[in-house]
Amino acid sequence: MSKSVELATLIRERAGEEAPEYGLILGSGLGHLSKAVEGVAIPYDDLPGFPHAGVSGHVPQLVIGNLEGARVAVFGGRSHYYESGRADAMRLPLETLAALGTKKLILTNAAGAVNTMLAPGGLMMLNDHIAFAGANPLIGEKTDARFVPLTDAHDAEIRAGLRAAAEAEGVALPEGVYGWFSGPSFETPAEIRAARVLGMDAVGMSTVPEIILGRFLGLRCASISVITNMGAGLSDESISHDHTKQMAPLGAAKLEKVLRRFLRG
Ligand code: HPA
Repeated sequence: MSKSVELATLIRERAGEEAPEYGLILGSGLGHLSKAVEGVAIPYDDLPGFPHAGVSGHVPQLVIGNLEGARVAVFGGRSHYYESGRADAMRLPLETLAALGTKKLILTNAAGAVNTMLAPGGLMMLNDHIAFAGANPLIGEKTDARFVPLTDAHDAEIRAGLRAAAEAEGVALPEGVYGWFSGPSFETPAEIRAARVLGMDAVGMSTVPEIILGRFLGLRCASISVITNMGAGLSDESISHDHTKQMAPLGAAKLEKVLRRFLRG
């Protein structure tokens, strides 16, 4: 039996048989939402092979249960490329999600704005991405399934649902292109200027490898960034992980409204 099928069996024994409709991955400072789920929390330590999420601001547990009437599987912690040099660090959790029978994945992250129409405390929904880090989580995959088309990486139908939810909640949800930088250092002002020229609206250190893995596994994906700062050189504010964690709750409150309304349907 494959590892993900074994893990899915273990999760079902604890959390029940029903497949979650949505997987949700929560970014830095956005973990609060997992507390709102009525269900079962399983620490990553109980799930052999799940990443020991080593970034402060992430809660390393999987919560499965009910949120606004929808059955969800919420990943409180993610592993980033910069922690290990492995872009496929989230492969097992996502394979396990697919093995549970889940078909849709919603990703969230903290990001820096490159487009000056965006502002800290606001949101941006990804309508496309640029894998600027140059890595790919499918390097080493042997099957032809590795040649994943990414034309529809950001699912039009889920995005339409999120857009409608944001509108109903009166939350601005501009859409744009997310650029994946490897981190863990932040970008230089020259890199942010280059990012703008290349067509990026926001930059961050996550999410893109998970979208690629998600599409590989047949999951339909949509992602929302919480803008925690302007990109390097675009404002006088300081950029730091502490600042990211401090600023995230501002946008997180808006994100929570949108996600709750979306899940209510
Ligand atoms: N750059 C990259 N990642 C980030 C940023 C940023 O400015 N802010 C939050 N995550």
